[in-house]
Amino acid sequence: MSAGLGWIADLTCLAASAAEAPVCAPAGPMNTSMFDPATEQTRLILDLTWLVLGICAVIFVIVEGLILYAIVRYRRRAADPVEDPSQCYGSGPIELAWTVAPIVIVVVLTLVSARGIFHIDRTDPPPGSLDVTVVGHRWWWEFRYPQLGIVTANELVLPAGTPDEPRPAALALRSADVVHSFWVPRLAGKMDVFPDKENLLWFDPVEPGTYFGQCAEYCGTQHAHMLIRVEVVGPDAWDAWVRNQQAPGPQAPAAARGRETFLSLSCVSCHTVAGTTADGTFGPDLTHLMSRATLGAGVIMNTPEGLGAWLADPQSIKPGCDMPDMKLDPSQLDLVRGYLETLK
Ligand code: CUA
Repeated sequence: MSAGLGWIADLTCLAASAAEAPVCAPAGPMNTSMFDPATEQTRLILDLTWLVLGICAVIFVIVEGLILYAIVRYRRRAADPVEDPSQCYGSGPIELAWTVAPIVIVVVLTLVSARGIFHIDRTDPPPGSLDVTVVGHRWWWEFRYPQLGIVTANELVLPAGTPDEPRPAALALRSADVVHSFWVPRLAGKMDVFPDKENLLWFDPVEPGTYFGQCAEYCGTQHAHMLIRVEVVGPDAWDAWVRNQQAPGPQAPAAARGRETFLSLSCVSCHTVAGTTADGTFGPDLTHLMSRATLGAGVIMNTPEGLGAWLADPQSIKPGCDMPDMKLDPSQLDLVRGYLETLK
């Protein structure tokens, strides 16, 4: 089932055309349907959803049916006498029934929900999990892999496990500013992201593929542009990705002038490129910028045109974001873009 965030791509195209740049984010389907679970955790959540929905549907049909029956059967007819119908008071059996039945229903719903919550939320991640620290920022996501010494942004790469050899991911979530909410519906339940409290979320990715999610708690102007992109990859692709991310920023000799220009600008107070003097932490780590598919948390594609448009005028692509218009002249723009393009 494919549903969800197609409208984000549309909005993104609007923003991009405002910037007069052919840099729309992927228009392909972004499957964010919780009805298409890809982990044991989300399958359990879906089973629970169907159970609750089913019980509520039965109640709805019974109550609405009785209302419709009463409206039709007991509507006033021309021949009806004008005086009130006969009045009756109290019925022990009926009152007992409509007290006990809802209590039983509520207890059942509470128990199955509690069982689900304890299974998913209250269980520690299995030993050997891959730890990832997720930091929500206005308006992008930072992903840190403390066991691997990797820092990246907006695109979470995870190894796929198998039934025999699971590779659970244990996310520790916190915010650098306001409350966000991390939700990749096909992989895990929704988890709020607080500035003053760390929340934990773990799941077992098994099917390689790209999974999408969104910030699910309103956090300001660009809340709709906090796309989460999760790449679940097989063992070889995972090893290659880790090796590449652990390497310092490439130092292509051809981009030396671009690097000098970049390092001479205030870019370095917000961005890090490992192996250089750029060590800012307010913005996304750029060490392997070109290994990511999009810019601005999914707002535009990370192509040479997209990167150029972003550097030239980020505020028209993502109004209100912390990336300022650096007022680069065309030659600086070319040099900086040329350098960033080497950060693979
Ligand atoms: Cu972050 Cu909404």
